[in-house]
Amino acid sequence: MKIKKAIFPVGGMGTRFLPATKSMPKEMLPVVDKPLIQYAVEEAANAGIEQFIFVTSRGKSAIENHFDHSFELENNLLSKGKRDTLKTAQEMLKIPGSFAYVRQQEPAGLGHAVWCARHLIGNEPVAILLADDLINGSNTTKEMINNYTSGNMLAIMDVNKKDVSSYGIITPGNCLQNGVTEVNGLVEKPSIEKAPSNMAVVGRYIIEPEIFDVLEKQNKGAGNEIQLTDAIASRIGKSNCFGYKFSEERFDCGSKIGFIQANIKLSIERKEMGSKLKSWLHNELLEYNK
Ligand code: G1P
Repeated sequence: MKIKKAIFPVGGMGTRFLPATKSMPKEMLPVVDKPLIQYAVEEAANAGIEQFIFVTSRGKSAIENHFDHSFELENNLLSKGKRDTLKTAQEMLKIPGSFAYVRQQEPAGLGHAVWCARHLIGNEPVAILLADDLINGSNTTKEMINNYTSGNMLAIMDVNKKDVSSYGIITPGNCLQNGVTEVNGLVEKPSIEKAPSNMAVVGRYIIEPEIFDVLEKQNKGAGNEIQLTDAIASRIGKSNCFGYKFSEERFDCGSKIGFIQANIKLSIERKEMGSKLKSWLHNELLEYNK
């Protein structure tokens, strides 16, 4: 099934990264030299997504500007003959009208953010990508779309039992082919004692349009917020729910340690600095371990 639209909830306040995020959206924090949101948009584009829908909030205009022309910068680079840099500045420009922005007026949760985009989605399944979850390789959304048949699909991965309370956790059912697993239950941020497994939801979803009707009436859940997890859970038994165990490496860039790890890993993979960084890290570690 072809999925043409993706929602990027980018309304969150990013309090974990203060003071860096006081006047800058957390989604604009760079990993090496690219903002987090660009990795998610590139992954979606790689999956054939044509319409990119951002659910923003106050103070997020830098995201809109990032995916637009910057005439001053482009003219300046052109006049200096810096064609490669110009290409980098222009690479995220899509066909005019491909990017749409809708505001979430209050921080009422991920489910509420997704619901805010309802008028921009027709009667069709839509992908959701959380930019905090940086997936190195940008094929996961594509693989999910390729394996999607109907209902709801969530990217899943095993996490340490002690971390289950930071995630949506599934009750796994039968393993099907190509990394797809049936999901028999789903709970948002359970305690270790109540977690049905250690299989966690990572920020990539394909949802059926019925979810918007559920979200309309959804009560607040974990953290006193309207949870997407709860809406998807309530559809189990009425429509299919699948987990997709992706194989690419995921970094939790909503946490400082995950963000630093992503920066180190992706910098090491860069031709222009990888070997220099590796030998510096090696020497630093020798010093620390003395
Ligand atoms: C959200 C979802 C959660 C999921 C997580 C993945 O939580 O609500 O189910 O496991 O993203 O990153 P958040 O991290 O926004 O609190």
